[in-house]
Amino acid sequence: MPELLLDVRDVTAGYAQDIDVLRDVSLTVHAGQVSGLIGLNGAGKSTLVKTICGLLAPKAGRIDFLGESIAGIATHRLIDRGICCIPQESSLFPYLTVEENLLLPLQGRSRKYAATLDARYAQVLEIFPALAIKRRDAAGDLSGGQQKQLEFAKAWLQDPRLCLIDEPSIGLSPLLAEEVFTWIERFASAGMGVLLIDHNVRRVVKMSDRIHVLSLGRITAAGDRADFEGDLHEQVRQWLGLDF
Ligand SMILES: Nc1ncnc2c1ncn2[C@@H]1O[C@H](COP(=O)(O)OP(=O)(O)OP(=O)(O)O)[C@@H](O)[C@H]1O
Ligand SMILES: [Mg+2]
Repeated sequence: MPELLLDVRDVTAGYAQDIDVLRDVSLTVHAGQVSGLIGLNGAGKSTLVKTICGLLAPKAGRIDFLGESIAGIATHRLIDRGICCIPQESSLFPYLTVEENLLLPLQGRSRKYAATLDARYAQVLEIFPALAIKRRDAAGDLSGGQQKQLEFAKAWLQDPRLCLIDEPSIGLSPLLAEEVFTWIERFASAGMGVLLIDHNVRRVVKMSDRIHVLSLGRITAAGDRADFEGDLHEQVRQWLGLDF
């Protein structure tokens, strides 16, 4: 079994004291594997990402990374642990250039990256050639697809062990969406663990080693890819309206 990176155990969380958005949620992410999280709009998927990233404190349960609790660690410190998040909303600074956006998270951390930064930067421009041409342009002037490339390039440069990726294909053309999934496969092939959330259920199932279904804040089904492939899981078929 590959190394266990993220271990979410019985987490309950919510924005208001008396309303729980997540209830007893458990899931794991292993090195070099993709864990998929699927669920209807409002199920609580992004809330789980925010809770893992320290933007929301769990009311109960544990969130461990490499065997240590990461509860209470400030979001901007997670990068030091090797955790990176590509959120559902943009994380770019629109008035900074492409290059400034890429390098900003590494500022003050140059020693950690000194030996590998040049090589990784060259890789970034190779994987995302559009960014090489737009290096000096403001991030806000990029197209939606190019901004998505920049988000992934920024993550790659940070060389994380774990990447949380929330709705990466939203708003993209089918062709570019497919490209985004190949980047995620590349991340996992490089040994990264990925928590992937996307509304393209079939694609998530196809590329995940383990799949979790979140319904109204609870994990209602979980299993390996084989359990969900073919006619998909019964619960997923119900949501998709495939009642045959
Ligand atoms: N900042 C917030 N304050 C209060 N409630 C919130 C906040 N953000 C989300 N919620 C509520 O939490 C619930 C879960 O929202 P969340 O964004 O986690 O769902 P999701 O599964 O990511 O949905 P989608 O597929 O639309 O992205 C919803 O009922 C939502 O209204
Ligand atoms: Mg969401």
